[in-house]
Amino acid sequence: RRPALLRREAVAATVPVAVAALLAGSGPAVAAGSVGTAGVGDPYFPLAGNGGYHVSHYDLTLRYDPVGRHLDGRAVLTARATQRLTRFDLDFQGLKITGLTVDHVKAEHRRDGQELVVTPRRALRKGERFQVAVTYNGTPGPVTDPDGSADGWIPTDDGAFVAGEPQGAMTWFPADNHPLDKSSYDFTITVPQGRTAVANGVLLGQRTAKGRTTFHWRQTEPMAAYLATATVGAFQVTQYTTRDGIKVYDAVDPREAAAAKPVLKQLPSVLEWESRLFGPYPYRAAGSIVDHAPEVGYALETQTRPVYDRAPDLSTLVHESAHQWFGDSVSLTSWKDIWLNEGFATYAEWLYAEQHGGDSAQKAFDALYARPATDGLWAFPPGDPGSGAHIFGTPVYARGAMTLQALRTAVGDRDFFRILRAWAQQHRYGHGTSAQFERLAERLSGKNLDRLFTTWLYTQGKPRHP
Ligand code: ARG
Ligand code: ZN
Repeated sequence: RRPALLRREAVAATVPVAVAALLAGSGPAVAAGSVGTAGVGDPYFPLAGNGGYHVSHYDLTLRYDPVGRHLDGRAVLTARATQRLTRFDLDFQGLKITGLTVDHVKAEHRRDGQELVVTPRRALRKGERFQVAVTYNGTPGPVTDPDGSADGWIPTDDGAFVAGEPQGAMTWFPADNHPLDKSSYDFTITVPQGRTAVANGVLLGQRTAKGRTTFHWRQTEPMAAYLATATVGAFQVTQYTTRDGIKVYDAVDPREAAAAKPVLKQLPSVLEWESRLFGPYPYRAAGSIVDHAPEVGYALETQTRPVYDRAPDLSTLVHESAHQWFGDSVSLTSWKDIWLNEGFATYAEWLYAEQHGGDSAQKAFDALYARPATDGLWAFPPGDPGSGAHIFGTPVYARGAMTLQALRTAVGDRDFFRILRAWAQQHRYGHGTSAQFERLAERLSGKNLDRLFTTWLYTQGKPRHP
């Protein structure tokens, strides 16, 4: 969540997209049909992800020096070709590559912007499993997003804040960098003794030798690259297991500890409350990373373990936790459907308030609806923000949540909560689209909801009162 952006509207800074590059792959086609495309065809981020293969597992070995801001990395990707491939791309920006093999054989490669173009010694057959190993190093830094915000590897005074939505994963590891591709991950991260490196999933072990500590993390359930983290800092660590058997690991910057502690204590009860509403929590691990990185300006729902730029308030904790169902387990198919993440996580905040002695969701809806037609809330429809510059704008969060309240009013509480649960359950560990959500809501309620969704998701300007 971006507290700053919710107050100050995202300024449109639309970057003309390199559609030509998308259509052409990242160079002249060698043999039509056997070159993996440079993107998966996302209209907002045409170069994000790659065509021709899926990654099943990333094995990332990293060593970070927070003083010299130097990163040494080795990424081993296990993938499967979905077509014959004489050439394919990875997304990787910045760092220097010192070695690259495909199935242990050196492979030709070149850089072209964020595309790392790989030509294996021999063509890969359709359906073939293969392994890509990339060794690299340098000083990682963030990428600037179309809305002017930064994500990726963001150095801090004691380590790095690492969050990759929507593009930044490629600043620290070579990836198939689009939520369409989900994979398991292993992280082996070495940092100076006294620093902690926190990634996703379960901590398998840590050992200290010669002034350095190595942390081994494993994310078993499928994860999109943008939800990976390897945040480094001088953290205070708390570990425990909830009564549902979820392994919790909290890492907190001491400067944020006093404010964070009472909020983080609520995580088990928040996850239990959300599990009752949305169905079982999707992961075996949970926790929080509370950094001190005021320059970042947002939190991210990094899978199993959201990362916060400061001590979160309870509503923000509820928001990032709700993303574990909506956004992380049920992933986007296309960035333009971002309201399926942000509208749902914002609506979870409303529901939490409603069921814990605060305002009702209807009251939250009414307060927003009272805003004049000239307000930024009505600047564009949430189901079609128009470009990557708008994916974190107020309409996506607030009018996205209003859409769910309008749906609840139309179908009634019983069907509404059945729809939310069914959405999380039917697309668990997978993907969803707005159209699929609309069909599900119609099927479960037995109502024609075409007008409702057209009005709230796709129609420009302030809708007439439902
Ligand atoms: N998904 C995050 C949240 O609302 C926001 C991420 C913002 N990212 C960015 N690059 N501005 O929980
Ligand atoms: Zn969010």
